[in-house]
Amino acid sequence: MAKDTVKNTARDTDRVLIFDTTLRDGEQSPGATMNVAEKLAVAKQLARLNVDIIEAGFPFASPGDFEAVQRIAAEVGTPNGPTICGLARATKGDIEAAAKAVAPAANGRIHTFLATSDIHMKYKLKKSRADVLAMTGEMVAYAKSFTDDIEFSPEDAGRSEPDFLYQVLDRAIAAGATTLNIPDTVGYLTPTEFGDLIRGIKANVSNIDRVVISVHGHNDLGLAVANFLEAVKAGARQLECTINGIGERAGNAALEELVMALHVRRQYYNPFFGLPAESEAPLTNINTKELYKSSRLVSNVTGMLVQPNKAIVGANAFAHESGIHQDGVLKNRLTYEIMDAQLIGLNNNLIVLGKHSGRNAFRTRLGELGFELSDQELNKAFLRFKDVADKKKEISDRDLEAIVNDETLQIAEHFKLELIQVSCGSNATPTATVTLLMPDGQDLTDAAIGTGPVDAIYRAINRVVQIENDLIEYSVQSVTAGIDAMGEVTIRLQQGERIYSGHAANTDIVVASAYAYVNALNRLYTASQAGESIHPQKEKIPVGTGV
Ligand code: KIV
Ligand code: ZN
Repeated sequence: MAKDTVKNTARDTDRVLIFDTTLRDGEQSPGATMNVAEKLAVAKQLARLNVDIIEAGFPFASPGDFEAVQRIAAEVGTPNGPTICGLARATKGDIEAAAKAVAPAANGRIHTFLATSDIHMKYKLKKSRADVLAMTGEMVAYAKSFTDDIEFSPEDAGRSEPDFLYQVLDRAIAAGATTLNIPDTVGYLTPTEFGDLIRGIKANVSNIDRVVISVHGHNDLGLAVANFLEAVKAGARQLECTINGIGERAGNAALEELVMALHVRRQYYNPFFGLPAESEAPLTNINTKELYKSSRLVSNVTGMLVQPNKAIVGANAFAHESGIHQDGVLKNRLTYEIMDAQLIGLNNNLIVLGKHSGRNAFRTRLGELGFELSDQELNKAFLRFKDVADKKKEISDRDLEAIVNDETLQIAEHFKLELIQVSCGSNATPTATVTLLMPDGQDLTDAAIGTGPVDAIYRAINRVVQIENDLIEYSVQSVTAGIDAMGEVTIRLQQGERIYSGHAANTDIVVASAYAYVNALNRLYTASQAGESIHPQKEKIPVGTGV
């Protein structure tokens, strides 16, 4: 069969396409909102990871969302780079916004969706089956008038009546869809059911062999990855997933788990691709050595921590990472390990730099770790490195990564922390004094007492900034082992319905706590100025939009 001319719509491939939706579905999880600079940094990392398609956002949501997709399309969507995709509900306004936002990419895709389950059609869309069929045809055709690469998703396919689903998919193909994505929107299906759903589609939808079958699924029952792997066996060739599995509610299928399952167990999966079991050809295009770094970056910018026992990227996933030195006990590492940590880019925490390391050594090591910094970013990061190296003798790759992320992923500093002083101890009342540079250029100082040093600092900051919020999560993790390790503080605070995260790293965890709090307040302040974003799945489709 002739290959398509449009990138990443080739059918019958002997590998699966990895469609990353961290920046769209991942960002829809409460508190995971990223700003444009952070989204660009994640998109660049996804390009290094070599994902096939990046779903960069929902451009109609707000001017900020539109700008992020457009910049990613321009800067990351190079001819050899990933396809850049924008999400659109089945309305003309959404489709036009998505088309415009992805236009600068060498390979752009519009992904439009419409619910097909009875419960969604009745209560959310308030539309009949006939309406939904007609809208599918009209809106896919409308999207096709902008670009050839069109993905269509029947939302809540997992709970849709199969015969109606087949009709909708028929209609989408006839109107020009090149990828049909089958979402288990509420994470309801079991692996066998998901496999059967894909088989049913292959058997009952006309011209299904002209399109790529994709799967999308949420992890409400913890089955998303298992479901996808069954779907692959049934013929799905595009997997929609997120780094660390972040996403709505219990999240999406985790990219790193899917990729490593298909890599480590390729002898099992090869025959489903028509390959001999012993074939060594990779089943995805992913550069697995970038997995760990991608996980750390996404966790840092979203404030969504990775649980220690998380498969592939959790701190305990590899025994030596959790500090258990088994070498003396076990003669063969493979007794308890099915994959090498180096495969996902874990380098056993090498100690590479110290107090006397110069700028060149610093720049070179960052380059080796895959960080591309501007001169200005490099200067900032180097100053911070020197500061940390004064306090901590040995600087590992993990420390470097924490320093670079902390210094280069700064968000707009409406409030700037200028001074923190704390006194506490067994017989003292914890007391903090803080000075902040305010948005109007004034320096304001205030002090407070608290139950502990962090509480005192947060109360003092609150007295200065006067922004009502509730701290709903506070966590400290050490970047490396050792008494002089840097601490990373991640917090989440809530104002009304919305959650904001903050993150900072420092050898002094009290100082890191203060910076993390100010970081979250800055996000809150930026969001309050930018206005609300529309949620693609929960907001009503506007009337009078041409459908
Ligand atoms: O979960 C879902 O159904 C989605 C669609 C927009 C594809 O995210
Ligand atoms: Zn989803």
